Amino acid sequence: MGSLRSRVFLIYVVAPATVLLMLLGSSSGAVVKTQPVECESYSLQKCKTEGQCNVTMVKCESDSDKPSNCFVLWSNSTGSTVIEMKGCFSNNVACDQNECIDHSVEQRNNLNFCCCKGFQCNSQHKWIPTTTVPTEIEVPQKNTLDSAAIIGIVLAIGIVILLIVIGAVYILKQRKPSRFDSLSSHEPEPNSSSPCLDKRQIDLIQEKARGRFGTVWQGQMKAEEVAVKIFPMQDKESWQKEQDIYKLPRLKHPNILEFIGAEKHMQDFWIITAYHSNGSLCDYLKSHTITWMELCKIAESMARGLMHLHEEIGGGTKGDDLKPAIAHRDFKSKNVLLKDDLTACIADFGLAMIFEPGKPCGDTHGQVGTRRYMAPEVLEGAINFTRDAFLRIDVYACGLVLWEMVSRCDAHGGSVAEYTLPFESELGPHPTLEQMQENVVMKKLRPRINEKWRTHAGLSAICDTMEECWDHDAEARLSSSCVMERVSQHNRYPTTPLLIETNTDTPVKDSSYSI
Ligand code: ADE
Repeated sequence: MGSLRSRVFLIYVVAPATVLLMLLGSSSGAVVKTQPVECESYSLQKCKTEGQCNVTMVKCESDSDKPSNCFVLWSNSTGSTVIEMKGCFSNNVACDQNECIDHSVEQRNNLNFCCCKGFQCNSQHKWIPTTTVPTEIEVPQKNTLDSAAIIGIVLAIGIVILLIVIGAVYILKQRKPSRFDSLSSHEPEPNSSSPCLDKRQIDLIQEKARGRFGTVWQGQMKAEEVAVKIFPMQDKESWQKEQDIYKLPRLKHPNILEFIGAEKHMQDFWIITAYHSNGSLCDYLKSHTITWMELCKIAESMARGLMHLHEEIGGGTKGDDLKPAIAHRDFKSKNVLLKDDLTACIADFGLAMIFEPGKPCGDTHGQVGTRRYMAPEVLEGAINFTRDAFLRIDVYACGLVLWEMVSRCDAHGGSVAEYTLPFESELGPHPTLEQMQENVVMKKLRPRINEKWRTHAGLSAICDTMEECWDHDAEARLSSSCVMERVSQHNRYPTTPLLIETNTDTPVKDSSYSI
C-alpha cells in the first residue's frame, strides 16, 4: 500500500515537476545559446616546448550553457607585449565586446586578459584601463538573463511546492478510509456499502448505562450533547445490526432515537445518537411519579414509535424507498428514552429483525430478549417464525411497560407504590427462565392491576389496553397501531380520579383541559 502510494506520488508529483524544471532550464539556456565562433589560437608554452609557434585558426565549440568567445592573455613586464595564449573562451563571464580590450585598471602579475565575441576578434588586443562599466548595453542584457533565470527558478519552486501539496492531500485522502469506518445521518451516505467518513471529535463525559451490549456514555460533540454506545469487539454483530436498522430508509421518526453515526475504533465500535438527559423510562419511573397527562404523553409517543417501527411504508413504485417492518425483540422500559418534553423514543436495535417483503425472516433463534419481558410463546419456545408473530411479541412487552407507567401514576389520588419491574413483586429481581415459564406460561400470571387504578376512568382504560396487549393468545393481542389509537384517545379522560364511565369505548371529554 505504502509503495503504491509512493509510486503514485512519483508519477503524479515528482516527474511532472522534474520535466517542468528541465523545460524551464532549457528555455533559460536558449537565451544564452551562441553561434560557433572562429578564433586565433596560440600558446607560448607550446611554442617553447613543441616548437609550434604559428598562430592558427580554431572553430570554437558551441556550448548551450556558455557562450563561445575569443581571448588573448598577454604579459607586459618589460614594456614589450608577449602573447602568452590565444584561443576560444567559453565562460559565463559577460564578454560582449567585438574587440579584445582589457579594461582592468591594474595588471595582475603583469598579465593582461581580454575576451571578445565575433569572428577572429582576438587577432588584436588592447589594454585600456577604465573605471566605468565597459558598455552600457552589456549590463542590462546580463541582468535580463539573470532575472529570467530567477523568475524561472522561483516559478519552478512554486509549482513543485504546489504539486507536493496536491500530492500530499491526495495521499491523505486515500489513507483516511483505511483508518476507520463511519457513517453519519448528519452527513448521510445511507446506501453506501462501505460508509466511510471522518471520525467525529467526541469527548466522553460520563458513563450512563450498561447494557447487554456495551456501555452508554454521555458525550460532547462540539456544542451538541450526544450519547455514545460503545460495543466491545466481540459484539460487533450487534453494532452492525443496530446501524443497519438506523440506516434503513424512512426509519427516522420523532419517537425513534435519533441516529448520528457509527464509528469503528481500534478497540471497540461506537453508535452515536441523540442524548436525552432524562434517561430511560425505567430510570425516570424509579425516581418520579407521573401525572395523568404525563402518562398519556409518554404512552402515546411510545406507541407511535412502536407503530412506526412495525409499519411497512412505501416501496410501491420504483424509487419509492421501502421501510420494512421491524420487530424490536427487546422492548422494555429501559429501551424507551424520555426526551426533555417527556415524549418517548425507542432505542437499542441490537436484536431487531427486519422483514423484507417476500424474503424469509432469516433468524433461527427465537428466544431472545429480556427474560422478564418475554411473551409466553417465547418462554415456551413455541413461536412461529412469521413477521406478525414477532410483532405480537413486542406488543406483549409493550403491555408490561404500560403497566409500569400506570403503577407510578398519581391520577387515582391515592398513594403511589415504589417502582418495581414487572413481576418483581411476584418473582423477585432475577427470575429464572423456569420461574418465568411456570408463572407466565403455565399459570398465565400477569403483573397485578391495583383496584385503585380502576377508580380513574383513564387509568382504567389503560389497564384494559395493557390486558389486551399481554393476552396469552398472541393473535388476540392488539396491533401496535391499535395500541397507538387507543392511547391517543386516553387523554380525553379527566385528570381527576372520578370514575364517570365504566364503558371505556366512549371516553368522557373533560372541558377543563385541551386534547
Ligand atoms: N441511555 C441509553 N441511551 C441513552 C441516550 N441516548 N441518552 C441518554 N441516556 C441514555
